[in-house]
Amino acid sequence: MTPLRRAYERWLLPPLLDLACGLPALHRERAAVVARAQGRVLEVGIGSGLNLAHYRVAQVQRIDGLDPSAELSRKARRRAEQRQLPLQLLQLGAERIPAADDHYDSLVCTFTLCTIPEPGLALAEMYRVLKPGGLLLFCEHGLAPDAPVARWQRRLNPCWSPCAGGCRLDRDGPALLRAAGFALEELQQHYLPGPRPWTYVSRGVARKPQR
Ligand SMILES: C[S@@+](CC[C@H](N)C(=O)[O-])C[C@H]1O[C@@H](n2cnc3c(N)ncnc32)[C@H](O)[C@@H]1O
Repeated sequence: MTPLRRAYERWLLPPLLDLACGLPALHRERAAVVARAQGRVLEVGIGSGLNLAHYRVAQVQRIDGLDPSAELSRKARRRAEQRQLPLQLLQLGAERIPAADDHYDSLVCTFTLCTIPEPGLALAEMYRVLKPGGLLLFCEHGLAPDAPVARWQRRLNPCWSPCAGGCRLDRDGPALLRAAGFALEELQQHYLPGPRPWTYVSRGVARKPQR
C-alpha cells in the first residue's frame, strides 16, 4: 500500500464514512431494524457506531461490535459511552468470529455486506454463531433491479470501490443471505433519494431456522 493510500484510509476515509453513513435517510432505515435486537447481540461491521442510537437499552444484554477498523471503532466506543450501552469491541473481520456456535440471540448488519471482501465466508460464520431461531437484522445497499442502473453499478465499481474502503455497488444482499441458509421473513426494497447506483436499499429480518 502506498503512503498516500495509507494516509487516505487512516485519516480521510473514516470521517467520510461516518458522514455518508449518518445521513438522515439512512438513520430511518437503521431505526426500522436495529430496535428489534435483543439479548446477546453481535453487530458485524459496527463502523463508527451509528446504529447505537437505535438499540433499545432495556432489551439488550450485551453488544459485541466487530470491525477491522481501529479508527471507526474509536468513534463507536464514544457513542456507546454516551448511551451507556454494554458494548465490547472486537477489532476483527467477520470471516472468523471468535464465538461458540449458537451464541448470539440477534445479529445486526447494516451497510457492511457491500464491503466485506468474502461475504460468503462471513455469512457462514454469522450463521454459525447465531442461535437457531435467532434473527439477523439487516439493511444493505446493493444490486438494483433495473438493468440500466445495475449496468452503471458494475461500471462504477472499479473507481468507487478503492475510494470507499472496498464497497461494491452491485452486491445482492438478499441473495447472499438466502445462499447462507437464512430464511428471509421480512424484506423491504426501495430506492432512497439520491443517485440510483448508490441508493437501492434492502432491509429486513432473516431467521436462522430451528434445527
Ligand atoms: C460502509 S461502512 C458501514 C459501517 C456501519 N455498519 C454502518 O452501518 O454505519 C462498512 C464497514 O464494514 C467494515 N468492514 C470491512 N471489512 C470487514 C470485514 N471483513 N468484516 C467486518 N466488517 C468489515 C468497515 O470497516 C466499515 O466499518
